[in-house]
Amino acid sequence: MKTVLTESPIEAAEFIRRGGIVAFPTETVYGLGANVFDEQAISKTFAAKNRPNDNPLIAHVGEIEQIKLLVLEISQTANKFIEAFFPAPLTLVLPKSAQVPLIATANLQTIGVRMPKNDLALEFLKECQTPVVAPSANLSGKPSPTTWQAVFEDLDGRIECVLQSGATEIGLESTVLDCTAETPLVLRAGAITLEELQNVEPRTRLYQLRKNEDPKSPGLKHRHYSPRAKVVLHGSKFKVQGSESRAFIGLSEPPGDFDLVKICATVDEYAHSVFEFFRWCDREKIQIIYCETVPQRGIGLALMDRLKRAAES
Ligand code: TXA
Ligand code: MG
Repeated sequence: MKTVLTESPIEAAEFIRRGGIVAFPTETVYGLGANVFDEQAISKTFAAKNRPNDNPLIAHVGEIEQIKLLVLEISQTANKFIEAFFPAPLTLVLPKSAQVPLIATANLQTIGVRMPKNDLALEFLKECQTPVVAPSANLSGKPSPTTWQAVFEDLDGRIECVLQSGATEIGLESTVLDCTAETPLVLRAGAITLEELQNVEPRTRLYQLRKNEDPKSPGLKHRHYSPRAKVVLHGSKFKVQGSESRAFIGLSEPPGDFDLVKICATVDEYAHSVFEFFRWCDREKIQIIYCETVPQRGIGLALMDRLKRAAES
């Protein structure tokens, strides 16, 4: 398949309306979109990414009104979050409507819904004239793509079109918030922080996976965000050993010699850069990446979550 590159949201949306799959930018990472009501198109996104089919997708809307097509009802609590944040890097998990095919939700009776805070994404979604399900536009297991070039590296020849834009603003995936029970639960940390959510609904908690329990968010059990290199987490003072090629990313000046170094001025910049840095390390065949840990508050919680997952695998 030839993958068309375009800067036109109108041209890109045309592919969605004809049953194709299209990578598009959001404020978090690039997504790989398909019409939420088109089972065949959705199955193509799973195939293009080699995504396990037990991992549900997030539906993206260009207008708040479209949420009604996707969910059975919007609870009062969910409505508070929508009013406070949308459009935002925030996904709300709600009971799904009958029209949403089960392939989109990996057989769950719930669906994740979000309205991205990115003008080009919103223009594209409006042109699609339907909500669009979109996983991150990377091959499964690789770091999420924050540039169209990273999408192209993974999916050239496997998808119909890439809507080109610059690097994504945030660089980490959206906060996933389960709103199906009394207590809203953060299933995946992101740029909308626990503290901000608690300002709107003080009962909001972080979901803690218990031993021997199936995770509430199936994506949590899959290998994720991993570069080929080994990832090591450390505090601001550490020593390096061995002769492997090595890289550093963090906030302070690292000790010793490194083949690649990225010093970030803020935690936000660190979050924005980390996935692209991992990909750069892979291109340069780096063997070990040393990542400085950050305090687990604000976006630091999301960043540490992704770093820990990368270090696990
Ligand atoms: O920022 C983002 O969320 C990006 C952009 C493209 O919007 N998308 C993204 O999608 O990261 P994906 O498929 O890579 O991750 C979706 C996450 C997974 O961890 C999945 O398990 C969880 O959301 N999820 C989706 N629907 C769910 C549901 N109904 N219940 C629980 N978790 C759900
Ligand atoms: Mg993903």
